[in-house]
Amino acid sequence: MFDSKKYFSKRLGSMEGSAIRDLLKQAGVPGFISLGGGYPDPKSFPSSLFDTLNQRVKNKYGNGVYQYGKTEGFDPLLQILPQFFQRANRKVKAFPDTISITTGSQQALTMLGMLFIDPGDLIAVESPTYLGAIQAFNPFGPKYIEMETDENGIVPENLDQLLTKHPSIKFMYTVSTFQNPTGKTIPPERRKQIATLLVKHGKLAIEDDPYSELRYEGVPVPSLQSFAHDHVIHLFTFSKTFAPDFRLGGIVAPPDIRNASVMIKQGLDLCTSNHDQAMVAEYLSGNYLDPHIKEIVALYKPRRDCMMKAIDTYFPSIFQHTCPEGGMFIWVSLKEGISLEEEKLDMKKILLETVSQKVGFVPGSAFFARKDHSPFSMRLNFTNQTEENIEKGIEIIGKILQKHLKL
Ligand SMILES: Cc1ncc(COP(=O)(O)O)c(C=O)c1O
Repeated sequence: MFDSKKYFSKRLGSMEGSAIRDLLKQAGVPGFISLGGGYPDPKSFPSSLFDTLNQRVKNKYGNGVYQYGKTEGFDPLLQILPQFFQRANRKVKAFPDTISITTGSQQALTMLGMLFIDPGDLIAVESPTYLGAIQAFNPFGPKYIEMETDENGIVPENLDQLLTKHPSIKFMYTVSTFQNPTGKTIPPERRKQIATLLVKHGKLAIEDDPYSELRYEGVPVPSLQSFAHDHVIHLFTFSKTFAPDFRLGGIVAPPDIRNASVMIKQGLDLCTSNHDQAMVAEYLSGNYLDPHIKEIVALYKPRRDCMMKAIDTYFPSIFQHTCPEGGMFIWVSLKEGISLEEEKLDMKKILLETVSQKVGFVPGSAFFARKDHSPFSMRLNFTNQTEENIEKGIEIIGKILQKHLKL
């Protein structure tokens, strides 16, 4: 057979397939309880509202809305977004000309990788971090430095040391609120400290925030961007509120970065769908977001509570879990001071067994830029299963963990 792979670019070398992803493909099988993906529940999508908004978009813009659009974004959306950024969970300083719309925030990550990373460049990421960011950055050949984290996210003292030791770090990447994969949120006081460090060391941060609207308890936290807007590129998306299908996200950045990112996007896909941007503009201007968030919170909060309770009930007591105030994920890891031989619990083997009983999760090792730690952790998603399934799934994983610990 003709070997076309010999013509693939070198950068594909860093894009190896994932055994875990292959395993979790089974998640689509009927009856499979996937606690592995990062999906919202389709029930949370306001589908009857889509019809109303679609009609309004048609009446307002006619067929012109299906035309190619401005790369920066659809004007009515750019005009309404600064108001969205004033929400207590963002407080992002933004103007229509510091925003650029992207096809999901995932595209923003690729664009920023292209904009900033030359092969061998150092970038700092949380330990653990969002797998999709690593996948977006990898083709540009960066080297990763891991920022130490504790129960409140990035540890400022460690960040200060890293930035002093590695002055060539191009940027740091953080999911500052309800982090994927841990669910952790950096408190305001720490955000201030991190912002001060960015200014002191003359560094940039990419703050990726898909989740801050989904708060189930506690007080909203303003963005890192609000503490140092010249030093922070803020990413947003409507995937976790409106619906992922619209692929609607974007970047708020200082003008030079915003303008360069628009040039890059032009080469990638010219523009994001005008129609979809118009739909989101109507969603925001019609004040549908707040009541919709209330509905999403009412759906997800009991699921989060149920998952935390089930972990407490069914998992071996050597494990601990995060108690996220929002978002979509819970992180399970060994309690402080507990050590285990690596062979005792091989999470990939555990996953194979849970999958054979139609339950999936993601082993924690998938979320580290450097693949050499946290072998006993896992990420669990609670938004796309009923409480009944969550309890059943956690019980199955717990029993398999118990069995292996006794072997
Ligand atoms: C931290 C983070 N960033 C970005 C994305 C990508 O989201 P989208 O491209 O749908 O906006 C996700 C999706 O799960 C995510 O968890």
